Amino acid sequence: MKFFIDTANLDQIAEAKALGILDGATTNPSLMAKEGISGKQNIFDHYAKICAIVDGDVSAEVISTDLEGMKREAHELVEIAPNIVIKIPMIKDGVKALSYLTGEGIRTNCTLIFSLGQALLAAKAGASYISPFIGRIDDTTWDGISLIRDIAEMFAIQGYETEILAASIRNSNHIVQSAMAGADIVTCPLNPILGLLKHPLTDIGLEKFLADHKKANS
Ligand code: G3P
Repeated sequence: MKFFIDTANLDQIAEAKALGILDGATTNPSLMAKEGISGKQNIFDHYAKICAIVDGDVSAEVISTDLEGMKREAHELVEIAPNIVIKIPMIKDGVKALSYLTGEGIRTNCTLIFSLGQALLAAKAGASYISPFIGRIDDTTWDGISLIRDIAEMFAIQGYETEILAASIRNSNHIVQSAMAGADIVTCPLNPILGLLKHPLTDIGLEKFLADHKKANS
């Protein structure tokens, strides 16, 4: 499973890259706003900075909700860097845009996926990635991980190459469970990634190894 970081924060992106496990990044208008980035040129400049840090794909989201607007934005965004992937919302014109951009050879990530039907439609339209929102599904008292498992099964049966990008990850267990459910990629903030490496028995064990070494070598 590939690891993407879900943030527009350059320090966090650089820290994840320094871990040596970073395969890509995703952003959205809310994450850009959280970093105080506004205005078209500033947003484009910020995408360029992210693309310069990240070796893999970087999802940049359109803000238009009509086909022509999405096409125009997509053509502008792909000029920023070769690793830009266009993030398109799961709405009717979004499906048309997925189909059109796929035909143009432009890679896409269909976002705001909450059902098997939406996943199927996005894959049929040629999306390179689909982003089911695990945490937001859990918020509704349904089970986000079970959606990942079902989509993985459906894509395997149908032979779709669209990659399942588990998004709206809220904790380290979401990452592990996404891997077990068949996600191709997980995208999450830095903290759930760092949470994967923590275990008190590791700390206790290391402390004892170092203490024993010190005793034997003093
Ligand atoms: O990848 C989508 C993500 O940014 C949304 O996360 O926590 O707002 O549901 P959240």
